[in-house]
Amino acid sequence: MREQAFAAIAAAGDLAELKQVRLDHAGDRSPLALANREIGALPPQARKEAGQRVGQARGAVQQAIAARQAELEVQAEERMLVDETVDVTLPTSRRPAGSRHPLTTLAEDIADVFVALGWEVAEGPVVEAEWLNFDALNLGPDHPARTMQDTIWAEPAENHVVLRTHTSPVQARTMLTRTPPIHVVCPGRVYRTDPYDATHSPMFHQVEGLVVDEGITMAHLKGTLDHFAAAMFGDGITTRFRPSYFPFTEPSAEVDLICWICRGVNSEDCRTCRGEGWVEWGGCGVVNPRVLTACGVDTDRYTGFAFGMGIDRTLMMRYAVSDLRDLFEGDVRFSSAFGTEL
Ligand code: PHE
Repeated sequence: MREQAFAAIAAAGDLAELKQVRLDHAGDRSPLALANREIGALPPQARKEAGQRVGQARGAVQQAIAARQAELEVQAEERMLVDETVDVTLPTSRRPAGSRHPLTTLAEDIADVFVALGWEVAEGPVVEAEWLNFDALNLGPDHPARTMQDTIWAEPAENHVVLRTHTSPVQARTMLTRTPPIHVVCPGRVYRTDPYDATHSPMFHQVEGLVVDEGITMAHLKGTLDHFAAAMFGDGITTRFRPSYFPFTEPSAEVDLICWICRGVNSEDCRTCRGEGWVEWGGCGVVNPRVLTACGVDTDRYTGFAFGMGIDRTLMMRYAVSDLRDLFEGDVRFSSAFGTEL
């Protein structure tokens, strides 16, 4: 019995087999356990010796099982280490991870600047009614300034639908649906029949700001834009208003930033401002009362200001990106250079 048990223990090739061997040779129904039980039936003089022999045999079998168990455990562990080895030098089939687009991040950062001032974010459709894109903004059908914006018309023309040429129709939509005081910022895509080159694209992004309340003046506009500029370009940035014309604001201005390369001095050779000392950032002004009236705002009580900046342009200025096309060609190496998490 004992020899049989030893042979079976030695033959157990893994822990599962050894478990079976333990049941067969050391369990309650093993030959040795049965022999143990039969000792009582032996004549008294034979019992002692039989008891010793069976007891020794059981002890030896238990020990042999324990020793084999230890051996098999070591083997199992070694096999696991081999099987689960990872060769970190093998080539990977994983594709490179994507990256958040810097325009998405910047648009959100801009919205945050204004949300922190208590403004709301408003959005409108890119396929827009001609009336909201133009007429409501004091750009009637024959207004010469309509040709300033190279419009992409949706077919058929008699539907009077355009791809919005600026985010200003969101101003009109906001005034038509809310009552003052209004403080909104409106980021979004806009479309024009522009060529596609280093500084133009038929699709780009703008952010519009609109405030309508009692007693709003150009001074509020200037203060707000100075705050916005500091948030975008750092506290030391200087802004300048240059008289301009937009049908929807009166008076109107272009907002310039002092050239951050030459700071307005040695501007002759400066490539960033091309000798101007200033770089144009966007348009703005006091909302034309004709726009307020068209959108149902009481002009005796309320005035407002509005501004519109290119988000793409802001990004290019902020990070010294020289080719606008880099923003639209989807090269993940470009996006990931901005280090933004997905
Ligand atoms: N909508 C103008 C543009 O696209 C920018 C602008 C917005 C100017 C609001 C004044 C006020 O050029």
